[in-house]
Amino acid sequence: MKERIQELVDILNKANVEYYLNDDPFLSDNEYDSLLNELNKLEHDYPQYILPDSPTQKVATKVISEFQKVTHDTPMFSLSNVFNEEEVRDFDKKIRKEFPNCEYVCELKMDGLAVSLNYEKGVFKRAATRGDGVVGEDITHNVLTIKSLPLKLKEPVDLEVRGEIYMSKKSFNECNKKREEEGLPLFQNPRNAAAGSIRQLDSKIAKERDLDIYLYHLPNTPLKTHYETMEYLKKLGLPTNPNLTLAKSADDIITYIEHWTQNRPQLPYEIDGIVIKVNSLAMQRELGQTAKYPKWATAYKFPAEEVITKLTDIVFTVGRTGQITPNAVLEPIKVAGSTVKRATLHNMDYIRSKDLKIGDYVYLHKAGDVIPEVVGPVLNRRQGTEKELVMIKKCPICNTDLVKSASEIDYFCPNQACPARNVESLIHFVSRNAMNIDGLGDRIMEDFYNMHIIRNFPDIYLLKNRKQELIELEGFGSKSVENLLISIENSKQNSLERLLFALGIPGIGEKNARTIAKKYENIDNLKNANVEELQLIPDIGGTLAQNICNFFDNPANRILIRELKELGVNMTYLGEKIIEHETFSNKKFVLTGTLSFIKRDELKKIIEKYNGIVTGSVSAKTDVVIVGEDAGSKYDKAVELNIEIWDEVTIHKILEDLKEI
Ligand code: IVH
Repeated sequence: MKERIQELVDILNKANVEYYLNDDPFLSDNEYDSLLNELNKLEHDYPQYILPDSPTQKVATKVISEFQKVTHDTPMFSLSNVFNEEEVRDFDKKIRKEFPNCEYVCELKMDGLAVSLNYEKGVFKRAATRGDGVVGEDITHNVLTIKSLPLKLKEPVDLEVRGEIYMSKKSFNECNKKREEEGLPLFQNPRNAAAGSIRQLDSKIAKERDLDIYLYHLPNTPLKTHYETMEYLKKLGLPTNPNLTLAKSADDIITYIEHWTQNRPQLPYEIDGIVIKVNSLAMQRELGQTAKYPKWATAYKFPAEEVITKLTDIVFTVGRTGQITPNAVLEPIKVAGSTVKRATLHNMDYIRSKDLKIGDYVYLHKAGDVIPEVVGPVLNRRQGTEKELVMIKKCPICNTDLVKSASEIDYFCPNQACPARNVESLIHFVSRNAMNIDGLGDRIMEDFYNMHIIRNFPDIYLLKNRKQELIELEGFGSKSVENLLISIENSKQNSLERLLFALGIPGIGEKNARTIAKKYENIDNLKNANVEELQLIPDIGGTLAQNICNFFDNPANRILIRELKELGVNMTYLGEKIIEHETFSNKKFVLTGTLSFIKRDELKKIIEKYNGIVTGSVSAKTDVVIVGEDAGSKYDKAVELNIEIWDEVTIHKILEDLKEI
């Protein structure tokens, strides 16, 4: 019996590959169904023989109670964007400066959602969303419903492989047709439909929605090029997009872009651009990445779709710093895949420079395909009845007289107790890149504020004392309250930089929060720092240094910090510590060429660990240029400016003495 089960599994899996991947079915639908029936029956009678890669296991739906968090073996990066030919050529120039003979692979940019898959000994084990790039969510139960994805690879290898889950145009239309018949709200685009299906606890929904997948990235491989990697993935039986090409020059890339701009409508799925990747994996490693993006790849995004709609009103909102922002109220219109009703107009200067009037018809697009932007008025549709916008004098929320910023462009509500400012500060505090608390969305926060449940940051950490009250609120259940409280408790263990960013000190962003946290290690050290000393930190100017001191000089803020500390919020830096070292501390370094014993990214990390600063280009301010093989113009510039140069032997010796290698 065991043998027959194995045999059936093998035949059916092979049939799936031929059908879904190679478009070459060797079984008729009837034959397939009858073999599948036989397998189902045998597995029912002999459940002890069910194989992990059985096709029955794959299509069987499953309900899970919550998404488990998954830490990716290698972080999942997103891509930088370019929007026109010139930016494509700039990208190529930058790379070619380092690697004159560079070749690229151009691929279609699938408009879906990123996924990371794990195979162990060739057997599919797990699928996870990108999440914040480091930790994603386990969506294995839904990915198992994707028919084109093999449960078993052709070789028994361990893999972490990335790709995109998408929904074909056909499945999307069918899905929406069904929803319309059932009176359900329609999905805006295939990406939303795919994402909505993947983020379901019950995999029956994903199965009905008919998702698909293409794999396009293998983070760790001994292969030499991306192109070979794609061939390898295909050889393993994984679905890959066949429309990729090698490009030797920027011209080749442009030709590929033009071709797919033309032919995009004929594709059976949506794409939102073209991905350009350096082909050599050695070059990729040398180029490394920024905090968010690999430097060896970029995405050319198709031009934003432009539509016309009516600007019916302009309303003002108050941000967490008190800044007043005018917003366009628009007649709802679909653009680049979603319905837009509002768009920021930034400030009065912006409105004036665009000559916008209330009642105008306006051109609207999405900047970077994401943020709705009013491009300008359709002048020949003006009727003379349109109204000039008059700036308000008082805060629309608390009625306090507004004040102008030093630049005379922005208006502020100066009232520290303005409810709108408070709510926005609370929303910022819990946001993903700040304290990262799940379950307190904008609406909920506003409600909690109005209900006096959360009025300040410490209140968030006191929510656990009001558990029963929360459970009884409309829209909350014990499970969601439970999850919220867990997320709040977890946030207490955040490293200091998150808290620094969350506090909303003017001028403190995510990046400089990390620099400051690394440098001062805990909040007490920072509290005692003075302006002069803060200004010595790279990227911290005089205004920011002053803002930091002002914040800690304010008694209310000192009390706030004490309260948060007493509530158990961590106030120390938990990342890698900085070590002062005279060879590196506060010196500016530029790295160029290839070093045989260390990757450039790793060297950068070591230099930063010893409080050195690594920059991209050589200038009079550079202290040392570290030069490897095939160094280009940066070396020449260092010689010209008489800057200290360390060759491979020098840096090797220094790192050896530090026991870093
Ligand atoms: S490569 C480290 N290739 O686009 C490289 N991404 O806007 C990771 N995407 O996060 C990405 N098609 O979700 C790559 N052929 C393709 C892609 C692709 C779609 C998505 C992916 C990425 C996003 C960036």
